[in-house]
Amino acid sequence: MRRRISPDCRVFFDVFAGTGVVGKHFKQQGFRVVANDIQYYAYCLNRAYLGLNTEPRFSEIPIKRQGRDSRLEAVLAYLNGLPGIEGFVFESYCPDGAQGRMYFTNVNGLRCDAIRTQIENWWESGLLTESEYYYLLAILIDGMDRVANTASVYAAYLKQFKATARKPLHLNPIPLIWSQYKHKAFNENGTDLIGRVHCDVLYMDPPYNQRQYCTNYHVLETIAKYDRPKVYGITGLRPHADQKSDFCRKHHALPTLDAMVRDTLARYVFLSYNSEGLMAKKDILDALSQYGHVEVVSHDHTRFRADQDRANRVYKADRVEEFLFCLEKD
Ligand SMILES: C[S@@+](CC[C@H](N)C(=O)[O-])C[C@H]1O[C@@H](n2cnc3c(N)ncnc32)[C@H](O)[C@@H]1O
Repeated sequence: MRRRISPDCRVFFDVFAGTGVVGKHFKQQGFRVVANDIQYYAYCLNRAYLGLNTEPRFSEIPIKRQGRDSRLEAVLAYLNGLPGIEGFVFESYCPDGAQGRMYFTNVNGLRCDAIRTQIENWWESGLLTESEYYYLLAILIDGMDRVANTASVYAAYLKQFKATARKPLHLNPIPLIWSQYKHKAFNENGTDLIGRVHCDVLYMDPPYNQRQYCTNYHVLETIAKYDRPKVYGITGLRPHADQKSDFCRKHHALPTLDAMVRDTLARYVFLSYNSEGLMAKKDILDALSQYGHVEVVSHDHTRFRADQDRANRVYKADRVEEFLFCLEKD
């Protein structure tokens, strides 16, 4: 990009934040970060990774420290040592549960239920601050994702337990980024939130194809919410009508992008997209150009594929072009 953003830009808004890696980077660079995602599990991650600047103290939890352990280490050791209980995760996503699904081993499902139940009990008893609650949820989500028996996303589970899925669930502390600022996370539809966030830079990394994130990450969503939804079908999907994204709908994506860019209070907008997305590069350029000066940076990449070649399947090209559209609004 030929132009540089003005040095007085301080607030970075990641409206489709997902796992929060981009926000973490900009937090580290000294920006005040606002992160948003329509998925609650992503909100939990962002609320913890960005919202916390220092390790939580857990001063109300009635647990004795062992030797030189910090209170955080003592809390994690307690949770890691809990015996499993039969709960929603075991029932819905494990081989000996009602539907025999294989997202997690029985042992990990039982332990997840015990840990998730304990976190909720502490929270309901007023023994956790909000930051402590989200910190524990984030490390449980992260820990369960590491032992999930999937190829990549939760659209399906594997028929045999892979080596990482057979490992025992273990909660590890999250390395936090110190910062002098308060950072904020939201769990809203970005289209509703966009005009309310005062920011200098808007970063947009929306879904680019028809596959909805709510169906790809439904299991993590249920662990995060622990709301015992009526799951259905072979893969155990949860109801998700209110979490569908317009960016996954061919005729809705471009008008939604247009409205968000129009309504944002940011001076700079960066959109990450690729050559296989539902919106064509030219249409995006036309939409953004209405609002100011646009440049595009592109990179050729090898396509990410979770599965192996199969003779009877038609694959798209092995290369994909990644775009970063950079707009400075008038
Ligand atoms: C391509 S991913 C973002 C990945 C992210 N940059 C990361 O590093 O993990 C798109 C994200 O947008 C979220 N999303 C989709 N539609 C949304 C909407 N209308 N409002 C807010 N979030 C949305 C999805 O839940 C998903 O987490």
